Amino acid sequence: MTKVLLTGGAGFIGSHTCLALLEEGLSVGVLDDFSNGSPEALRRVAELAGLGALRQESPGRWSTGDSGPADLTLLRGDVRCPGDLDRAFADGIGAVLHFAGLKAVGESVAQPLRYWDVNVTGSLRLLEAMGRHGCRTLVFSSSATLYGSTDRVPIPETAPLQPINPYGYTKAAVERMLADVAASSPGWRIARLRYFNPVGAHPSGRLGEDPSGSPNNLFPYLCQVAAGRRPRLDVFGGDWPTPDGTGVRDYLHVMDLAEGHRRALAVLEAEPPQLLTLNLGSGSGHSVLDLVRAFETTNGLAVPFSVVGRRPGDSAVSIADPQEAERRMGWRTRRSLADICRDGWAWQSANPGGFGEGESSLDG
Ligand code: UFG
Repeated sequence: MTKVLLTGGAGFIGSHTCLALLEEGLSVGVLDDFSNGSPEALRRVAELAGLGALRQESPGRWSTGDSGPADLTLLRGDVRCPGDLDRAFADGIGAVLHFAGLKAVGESVAQPLRYWDVNVTGSLRLLEAMGRHGCRTLVFSSSATLYGSTDRVPIPETAPLQPINPYGYTKAAVERMLADVAASSPGWRIARLRYFNPVGAHPSGRLGEDPSGSPNNLFPYLCQVAAGRRPRLDVFGGDWPTPDGTGVRDYLHVMDLAEGHRRALAVLEAEPPQLLTLNLGSGSGHSVLDLVRAFETTNGLAVPFSVVGRRPGDSAVSIADPQEAERRMGWRTRRSLADICRDGWAWQSANPGGFGEGESSLDG
C-alpha cells in the first residue's frame, strides 16, 4: 500500500485530516517544520487512532511502526527544501495533501515576501519533488479568500477571483500553478479545495486549534475569552449591511473539513485524471453575534464582548455555494453550530495552554 503525504500535517486542519485518514486504515506520512504545528498534536492523533507511540527512528523522524492496518510517520522538515521533500517521498508516496503554508492576512501585508516564499515557492518545490518521484495526485488547501470582498451570496466556484491581500494573491498564484501543471501533461489528479471558515475541534477535546500568540480569527479568540485568558472579545463592526450589523461567515466544523479531504482523495483516485475545484463550506451564514450566542447557550457560559470599529479588509458576508462538492463527491457538512461550539470548548477547557512546546512529548 502506498502512503499519503500530508505537508503541514501537524497544524490545525492537517492534524484532524491525518486522524480521519488513519481511521480509514491509510498509511500516512507528515512533513512539518513545526512553525505553526505541534508534534504533540500528532502524538495525540496516533493515540486517538489507536496506533500507540510515535517513536524516534532517527533525528527528526518518528514513526508508529507499520504493524497495524494504519501507520504514521512524522518528519521534521521544510516544504521549500528539496532534500527534506526527497526524504519524505523516499517512503513511497502515492498522493499528497498540501496543507503547509502561512495563513494570517494581516501578517501577509506586513511580510509579503515571506508569504510568497513559503506559500508559492513551497508549492513549486513540492510539485518539482512530485515530478521527480512520479507522484501525480495532489489535494491543495486553497481558500475562500480568493473571492475577495464580493457581494455575491452564496459564492459558487465560478465567481471571479479577486484577492485583496498578499495571502490571497499567493493562494491564487498556487491555484494558477496547479492549473498550468495539470494542463502540461496528462495524468495529473489535482483538487483545489477552497475552505470557508474552519472552526471547532475533535469531539474528544484532545485535538484542536492552537494559534501561536493572540488569535487572529474569531473562534479561537472567543474560546480564549470564555476561558478567561482574555478580558473580552472585540466585535469588528456593528454597522455592516447584515441582519444584526455584524459580519456573516460560513463556519464549518474541522471534522467535516477533514472528511472533505478524505472524499476528495477518493474521487481523485477513482476517477480519470482531472483538475477538481470545490468550495468547502456549509452554505449557511452566521453573524459574529450568532456565534457568540450559540457558544454561550451551548456551553452555559458568558462571553463578554464589545462592538468596536470595522477591521480593515473585512467584508460583510461570505457564504459558500457548496452544491458542487455535494454533486462531485457526495460531501456536505453534517455538524451544526452547536457541535462546533461544544467541541471547540471541550478542546479549549481541557487544554488552556494548547499543546505546549517542543518535541519533548515524543518518545526520544
Ligand atoms: N471578528 C471579530 N473579532 C475578532 C476576529 C474576527 O469580530 O476578534 C469577525 C470578523 O470581522 C469577521 C468574522 O469575525 O466578520 C470572522 O473573522 P475571522 O478572522 O475568523 O475569519 P475571516 O472570514 O476574516 O477569514 C478567514 C481566514 C482566512 C480565510 C477566510 C476565508 O482567516 O484565512 O476565512 O473565508 F481566507
